[in-house]
Amino acid sequence: MALVTGAGSGIGRAIAHRLGAGGARVICTDIDLDGAQSIAGEIEEAGGSALAFRMDISCETSVRDTVAGALAETGHLNAVAANAGIMVEGDLLSLSLDDWNRAMAVNATGAFLTARATLPYLIESGGGSLVFTASTVALSGMKGVAAYSASKGAVAALTRQIAADYASRGIRVNAVAPGAVRTPLSESQFRARADTDAEVEALLTAVIQRYPISRWGMPEDIAALVAFLLGRDSGWITGQIIPVDGGLLETR
Ligand SMILES: NC(=O)c1ccc[n+]([C@@H]2O[C@H](COP(=O)([O-])OP(=O)(O)OC[C@H]3O[C@@H](n4cnc5c(N)ncnc54)[C@H](O)[C@@H]3O)[C@@H](O)[C@H]2O)c1
Repeated sequence: MALVTGAGSGIGRAIAHRLGAGGARVICTDIDLDGAQSIAGEIEEAGGSALAFRMDISCETSVRDTVAGALAETGHLNAVAANAGIMVEGDLLSLSLDDWNRAMAVNATGAFLTARATLPYLIESGGGSLVFTASTVALSGMKGVAAYSASKGAVAALTRQIAADYASRGIRVNAVAPGAVRTPLSESQFRARADTDAEVEALLTAVIQRYPISRWGMPEDIAALVAFLLGRDSGWITGQIIPVDGGLLETR
């Protein structure tokens, strides 16, 4: 049994698809219930098994009650993809306190709340694997995303901490650190900076020219590593923050 946050769109959707195709029963959660229901429906249509729930990862009661409700139905949990997140743009001087708090509430506190609510079930199920979606900006600076970067840095630190604290209880914790992946999140970033579709496409093309493997990452590129880290073949890997970035970090 696997639980995915942010399953309604982009990377989370690809993770849910991949886990469903691999035979897991998938608890699809998202703040957008329609999105969660549509991916759960697709998994079922493809012959898999899935449930859908609305869950806001930044809200303690939403996370606690949804996880408890889902697990009351399914009884068992051995894999968690804590993936949901939001982009908040701005360098230090252009960020408001609200911007900072929003990035932290969803990306950092959301990761904490998801892990804290699911960990007891993983332990009770005899052990399991938790994978966060961090970002390359957790490992290296990038212009114009100070709050987002700090929130993903918190996710990276949390990954190492939970890995250290719970390995002895059969829990592995890792994070994937994607580079630029073509999803509604990344596209909205560029739409905000351009007036026309052609300008958006020009910006999107400029981004990938910095990447040694010069194409945009696809959600499936990230989902493949998440599925590996959630599965038994990665049984001796824990506490790692692993870039999936077309070679960007090691070559720039
Ligand atoms: N797309 C990229 O280039 C990129 C790069 C690095 C890291 N990431 C990270 O990958 C993860 C997924 O991003 P994506 O690109 O697929 O974005 P996306 O916007 O396509 O999907 C994010 C999903 O999370 C959900 N969500 C947002 N706030 C939520 C909340 N409070 N509670 C529950 N669900 C919530 C949204 O409804 C959406 O379905 C995020 O953590 C993001 O920071 C993305």
